[in-house]
Amino acid sequence: MSRANTRFFNSNTLKLGVFSANCSGGMAVTNVPERWDGSWDNNLKLAQIVDEAGFEFLLPVARWVGYKENSFFHNSVLETMSWASALLASTREIAVFATVHTAFSHPIVTAKQCATADQIGHGRFGLNIVCGWNSYEYEMFGIDLPTEHSARYAFGQEWYDIARRIWSEQKAFDWNGEHFKLKHVAGAPKPYFGDCPPILNAASSEEGRAFAVRNADFLFTVLADIEKGRQDVTAVKAQAAQAGRKLGVFTTSYVVCRPTDAEAQDYHRYYADTNANWEEAERFMALQNISSQSFPPEVFKQFRGRFAGGNGVYPIIGSPDTVADTLAAISGAGFDGVTVAFVNYNEELPYFCQEVLPRLEAKGLRKPA
Ligand SMILES: Cc1cc2nc3c(=O)[nH]c(=O)nc-3n(C[C@H](O)[C@H](O)[C@H](O)COP(=O)(O)O)c2cc1C
Repeated sequence: MSRANTRFFNSNTLKLGVFSANCSGGMAVTNVPERWDGSWDNNLKLAQIVDEAGFEFLLPVARWVGYKENSFFHNSVLETMSWASALLASTREIAVFATVHTAFSHPIVTAKQCATADQIGHGRFGLNIVCGWNSYEYEMFGIDLPTEHSARYAFGQEWYDIARRIWSEQKAFDWNGEHFKLKHVAGAPKPYFGDCPPILNAASSEEGRAFAVRNADFLFTVLADIEKGRQDVTAVKAQAAQAGRKLGVFTTSYVVCRPTDAEAQDYHRYYADTNANWEEAERFMALQNISSQSFPPEVFKQFRGRFAGGNGVYPIIGSPDTVADTLAAISGAGFDGVTVAFVNYNEELPYFCQEVLPRLEAKGLRKPA
């Protein structure tokens, strides 16, 4: 057995993940009473549903403070390394990622946490690296968020090089970098298969994408529209090929799936418009606009509704046929995987699994679990 034989590296054309379930609200900035509470018990139940259904991965958000004091959305967030470790102990085949801010965690500590989680999961752990954007959060830690993207990613590079060496080298090493001066660095156990766990990186800035091309197995990009997505995927894969690397590209979506398109649109209007929490959605947009290049600027104006519906990511709203067709279009644009999120994951996922997964299988995009 090797990592290549784990489910995450299966041959499905379109991999499926669940994003943001470790946070209150999930991805929906709404006041409806059925919104996601992000509790441990619900996360455990969710993980078991999607493990059984054949999803490839679970991806959490690392968040240390909500966007607005005493708000609901992302105010309560389970810490991702402990969340991943516990879920790996409670599932069988699905990969579970932790998300780590390079600036808030020492690479030696993170390297050991990752190796431990990977041992628990028998090689099913993955790491999502975040090099920084949320100035409000940085202030809480008393750390300056460098204005220059290049400085954020230079720090991230040094951080990751240290972690990677700990995973892959048998002998202790000294490190004399710009940000870290370390002596006799070592770490055991290694990750379960003695190699590096899969690395995800989400970034849209030029420096961020270059970081992903150098270091990651999968880049996450935000999808504004399918055509633009296709161009982005082609460009970044070409960039990776030029560097002699193979880089998969994932994107992220939120889903409302109901028996008919009209029912799905009605529900979307109910939670993401009539009962949207605009104050919180606006606060998130403002923070993103100031210090991150995750979303192209036109997205804020053009797709304001998406920020209440699913924190700005791509909406997939409709009947099972419409949802499956939209996922097929995302795959057709060259994406290797997509994450989904729901207002209430556990209430909505069984219907998605029952109706949408067989349609994706019929389209040849996935094999039955
Ligand atoms: C799918 C996805 C997951 C992300 N997860 C997190 C996260 O958990 N915590 C966080 O602070 N930022 C997260 N981000 C933000 C990015 O990691 C990155 O910091 C941000 O996109 C700014 O990078 P850029 O300005 O270089 O593009 C995520 C972004 C995407 C698209």
